[in-house]
Amino acid sequence: MDSRQLKLGAILTGVGGPGHHYMWLDPEIPTDASVDIGWYIEYARAAQDACFDLVFIVDSQFITPDSPPHYLNRLEPATLLSALAVSTTHIGLVGTFSTSFNSPFNLARRLASLDLISGGRAGWNVVTSGDAGAAGNYGLDEHYDYDTRYGRGLEHVRVCQGLWDSYEDDAFVADRATRQFLDRAKLHALDHSGEHFSVTGPLNIARSPQGQPVIFQAGDSEQGRDLGATIGEGIFTHAASLEAGQAFCREMKHRAAAKGRNPDELIVMPGVQVYVGDTDGEAREIEHAYQLADHDFDRALGELGRSFGWHDFRQYDLDAPFPDVRWAAERSWQTQADRIIGLARSRNLSLRETVWALSGPKPTPFVGSPATVAETIAQWFSAGALDGLNLHVGHPEQFRRFTGEVLPRLRDRGIVRERYEATTLRGNLGLPIPENRHTARRRRPAALTA
Ligand SMILES: Cc1cc2nc3c(=O)[nH]c(=O)nc-3n(C[C@H](O)[C@H](O)[C@H](O)COP(=O)(O)O)c2cc1C
Repeated sequence: MDSRQLKLGAILTGVGGPGHHYMWLDPEIPTDASVDIGWYIEYARAAQDACFDLVFIVDSQFITPDSPPHYLNRLEPATLLSALAVSTTHIGLVGTFSTSFNSPFNLARRLASLDLISGGRAGWNVVTSGDAGAAGNYGLDEHYDYDTRYGRGLEHVRVCQGLWDSYEDDAFVADRATRQFLDRAKLHALDHSGEHFSVTGPLNIARSPQGQPVIFQAGDSEQGRDLGATIGEGIFTHAASLEAGQAFCREMKHRAAAKGRNPDELIVMPGVQVYVGDTDGEAREIEHAYQLADHDFDRALGELGRSFGWHDFRQYDLDAPFPDVRWAAERSWQTQADRIIGLARSRNLSLRETVWALSGPKPTPFVGSPATVAETIAQWFSAGALDGLNLHVGHPEQFRRFTGEVLPRLRDRGIVRERYEATTLRGNLGLPIPENRHTARRRRPAALTA
């Protein structure tokens, strides 16, 4: 039996995220689910009842009418997660926040507040923002180039981590007899002056029971993987196949080890879609029916533009070869765009065929009877293709089947918990609490100057 535990995240995308344009037609999904805090609370509690490690909130700050329904009208992640913090007790609360369009002091403060409100359950999915158009919402003519945006990303995270250590754990004496509230020696300014940010500090909020929020990262280029290996404790990615998952996990853990990190402290969690039926055949029919219902060629053609900075693909001849538009992706989702171009070129596809190949109905890996889905997940886990999975919570019936029929089988195999081990996200993910750097320096002056 595997002694490791499979980590579980629930991605909440209300009325439907990318590629799921018509999920909201499901009568069980309220048409305002993405802005209804009651809906999020219901699903966060259901995920907590099933002992998920975390809920995961994706985000972006630029939309067009072609954006998926959930993106068109949704709650801001820190505000949303604060409400979930007081409506749940154990589940982790991970929000996506961009290092390109947030100031480190402001974001460090919001995340530290969420971490305290939740008793140590906050996580940050660090992104540099794929949607280049967000630049226009922050007074910029264009998004940063890759080196700049990933350079900012690393410095941003380091500044936030520095700010989160402003107070040592025992800084607040609060002794009424001596009238001493603060031990002044245990409050530390940051005085950071770097290439992208200057931040004096200190931050005006104490550390939580887990020390600092857990850092996730999503971004797949060379620069993105390097950032993930440097600062990521969780990595959010895609899962194309078992072999691709194995290669990705191996590479990321190798990169982390090469940076002197413990590779076990980097948890790879691909986003996955699960379809469960009474039999494998029925599950495939369910998958096909949902994919077909979601598919709309014109919507898919419009959404194809997202990877290319929302380039308008409707202007091209559908039956001509895939157009030469890599330039449009250079400050957007370049890695994803390169994958699409590679697919079209290698198979000599027209634009129409490319749209179909990307978004038409096709079999995916985690589909079958409850026994088959449990077996597939266990197989990927033991083969080192993932450390956990971030489940796209789609149709309510499917979420119920996953929690009610698949998870018990994974519990029987001993790879999914029966109950929470801890009340903090770090505790449940098996990640260490980072010691406050100033306390560490006091304890081990030689070690830190070495
Ligand atoms: C799996 C995955 C999930 C992502 N989620 C988000 C997100 O929710 N919001 C966002 O602004 N960017 C998101 N990103 C975008 C990245 O931060 C990055 O800007 C983009 O992927 C382009 O960088 P890359 O070529 O290094 O992947 C995601 C990237 C990946 C690979």
